[in-house]
Amino acid sequence: MRLIDIFVLNKCGSKKQAKKAIKKGLITVNNTIVDEDIEINDETVIYESKILDSHPLKYYIIHKPSGYVCANKDPHDPCLITLLPDENLHYVGRLDRDTTGLVIMTNDLKLRKRLTLPEFHIPRTYAFTCLYPLLDITPFKEGIVIDGDVKCLPAIVEMMSENEGTITLEEGRYHEIKKMFLSLNNKITSLHRIMYGDISLGELPSGSYRTLTKEEINHLKDITGRELCNISKK
Ligand code: URA
Repeated sequence: MRLIDIFVLNKCGSKKQAKKAIKKGLITVNNTIVDEDIEINDETVIYESKILDSHPLKYYIIHKPSGYVCANKDPHDPCLITLLPDENLHYVGRLDRDTTGLVIMTNDLKLRKRLTLPEFHIPRTYAFTCLYPLLDITPFKEGIVIDGDVKCLPAIVEMMSENEGTITLEEGRYHEIKKMFLSLNNKITSLHRIMYGDISLGELPSGSYRTLTKEEINHLKDITGRELCNISKK
C-alpha cells in the first residue's frame, strides 16, 4: 500500500496533508525521512512520534445476533457495529433486524463497493424456516416476482423438510427472501445467513467476530475483480 493511503487510513489527515507532511520531512520509514509517496509493506512508518499501522485495511466476519440492526446509529435497537473493535467499518450488505448470521465488515471501500454491485452475482446462502410447507420449488428456479413487477434472479432452494431449507441468491434486494415467500402466500419464520461467496460462517458463536483470512480476502477480490473485466467489455 502507498504511504499516502496509510497516512489517510490511520486518520492522520487528508491526501493533501499527507503530501505536505512528506514535503516537510515529517514522516519516517524505518527511521529514514522519506521525500516521496512510496510503497510500504512491513516497514515501520512514524508520523509525529506515532507509529502508523502499515496494514490499515481491515476485514471482519461477524455472526449477527437477532435484534441487532446493520446501521451506525439507531434510536431503538443496538447496532451490530458496536460488537466490533473498530467503529470505522462499513457493512457489506445488510441483514434485517430479525435475520441472524454472516455479515462482512470492512474499511476497504473499493472492495465493498464492488461486492455490493449487482453485476457480480455473488452467491449468498441462507438457512430458512417457513410457516407453511413448501412443496414446489420451481418458482424459485424461474425467478419470483416481488413488489408487483420486480422479477428476482433465479434462486436455488434445497429442502431439508417441508418447512426448512436453504436458499441461495445471487443478488441482495431489500427483504428479498421474505418478499419471495409472501409472493407464494407463505411466510419466512426464521432466516440465517450461512455463506457469502465461498466464505462460511462455520462455528463462529453468535455475537462474535473474526478477521478474514488472507485466502478469504483474496477470494473476495478475485470474484469481483475477475467479473469487473467482463462488465467493462460489455
Ligand atoms: N432477505 C430478507 O428478506 N432478509 C434478509 O435479512 C436478507 C435477505
